[in-house]
Amino acid sequence: ENIELRGEVESYVESHLLPIKPSHTHAYDNSTKNGLPMIAVSPVQGQFISMLAKLGGARNILEVGTLGGYSSIWFAEAVHGKGKVTSIEIDEHNRQVAIDNLQHAGVKVPEEVEPILGAGLDVLPKLVAEIQEGKREPFDFVFIDADWDNQWNYFDYGVKVARGKGSVVYVDNVVREMFESGVVGNEEREKDACDLVAKVGRDDRVDSVVLQTVGAKSYDGFLMALVK
Ligand code: DHB
Ligand code: MG
Repeated sequence: ENIELRGEVESYVESHLLPIKPSHTHAYDNSTKNGLPMIAVSPVQGQFISMLAKLGGARNILEVGTLGGYSSIWFAEAVHGKGKVTSIEIDEHNRQVAIDNLQHAGVKVPEEVEPILGAGLDVLPKLVAEIQEGKREPFDFVFIDADWDNQWNYFDYGVKVARGKGSVVYVDNVVREMFESGVVGNEEREKDACDLVAKVGRDDRVDSVVLQTVGAKSYDGFLMALVK
């Protein structure tokens, strides 16, 4: 594999398909300035998840893991004028940076992006209850980009908060987690990502796929499940 070349390809694609938006650059720069790790999605990935959401006609999007709100900006654009993004973040500092980045991008908080402070496993059951009580709309697209201690539970809740047939649950970084955890039989390492894939495969509620990707950052890939 040629790491330099795939970086060049991504730069070329970025410069021709994704003309620089100052608000996006600001979100990255302001996140770095405030000490957030540089692990947000890339511009190309942002465009891709935003297009996926549009493709499915998503109105209501849920994110687990806001970080600095970079993907929230992309999703807000995808549902602009027809829906809302709800985004869960466990860290108050990250959440404040995200709010700053969103507002700088002209995204209304909380009307267009509602940031919720809390741990995924505390907030998700509340969302399930609110949806069941008719107080909150279910979600068309669930983007899970959070810690790897609870991925199956996030996924399971993701399906529970989904609107129904055709709703998407997307899990970021599954492939990287699989190879970092030793997918080919390193018994000493954690196997959360492999367990997730196996469990999703046995889950009759969804059809699913894992797609491996390369980009400027690294070899990685995501899991995408479509509610049946
Ligand atoms: C990294 C990338 C991610 O998308 C993420 O959610 C966490 C970490 C990384 O590149 O290290
Ligand atoms: Mg990620």
